[in-house]
Amino acid sequence: MKIPLIGLGTWDLRGHECTQTVKLALELGYRHIDTAHVYENHEAIQKGIKGFDRKQLFITSKFPLEMLDAENISSSIEESCDLALKQLGTDYLDLYLIHWPHRTWPITEIFKVMETLVQKGKIKKAGVSNFTIHHLEDLLNDGHKPAANQVEFHPYLYQEELWQYCKVEQIQLIAYRPFGKGAVLKDPILKKIGSSHEKNSAQVILRWLVQKEIPTIPKASSEEHLAENLDVFDFELSAKEMHEIDKLNQDKRYCKADDSEFEY
Ligand SMILES: NC(=O)c1ccc[n+]([C@@H]2O[C@H](COP(=O)([O-])OP(=O)(O)OC[C@H]3O[C@@H](n4cnc5c(N)ncnc54)[C@H](OP(=O)(O)O)[C@@H]3O)[C@@H](O)[C@H]2O)c1
Repeated sequence: MKIPLIGLGTWDLRGHECTQTVKLALELGYRHIDTAHVYENHEAIQKGIKGFDRKQLFITSKFPLEMLDAENISSSIEESCDLALKQLGTDYLDLYLIHWPHRTWPITEIFKVMETLVQKGKIKKAGVSNFTIHHLEDLLNDGHKPAANQVEFHPYLYQEELWQYCKVEQIQLIAYRPFGKGAVLKDPILKKIGSSHEKNSAQVILRWLVQKEIPTIPKASSEEHLAENLDVFDFELSAKEMHEIDKLNQDKRYCKADDSEFEY
């Protein structure tokens, strides 16, 4: 699976603002758009991608397990996918993810249905999000491999063990919320490293991810931020700087629901 290193996160972008942001991002050179049923912006994204060559785009969406009918798992997953396709105005998704794991649901059975969507051409790849190593092991032990695991990942939540596990198993890790919704950008070490390269902390974080070859999906709504976040390919962090950033880890999560299973 070829996935652009820098994509656009669209959580919290809706309506006209979302359409305009997506359009502007594509004009600037973004190709990966990340969305989800719960973001309620599929239709706004459809308007934003209109006129761009679909084959050049990489579109990810996700379904929450709560959207499924426990009595009719198979048909309700396909219905959720059909709805996303209709709302986005596309024939296929590049990546479709289970948004959050909950072990009260039969994850393997659900994943098997997602694999049939690949066979039907409705999605290119089936993946997961917010899965721990243990959740992934459960799926792998049942003989199923997700193409990707989209997880929160930034200098304050450097999930090195999960990243290494995904590398070995050839599951593409995708870093969401790379700026901790903006909170990580205030870090003085990131600012210091940035100033020595004439870059800001957002660009330092993105460069840190790029050098680890981890695709990411920062959300930005202004043209300035959108452009800055793409402008990370003309400088290089030294091994010492990469290590300094690795050391900022605090196991700090900015995305955690009451029923999250991060302890699993
Ligand atoms: N799978 C999941 O469960 C999950 C969970 C959470 C998020 N996500 C995905 O990950 C995406 C990113 O996460 P997020 O939106 O929560 O937060 P984020 O990308 O970590 O941070 C977004 C914030 O950073 C600001 N920002 C962006 N570029 C900047 C720059 N160059 N300089 C200074 N500030 C900058 C944005 O401001 P402006 O808007 O003003 O530009 C916004 O306030 C989401 O949009 C979503 O697609 C997935």
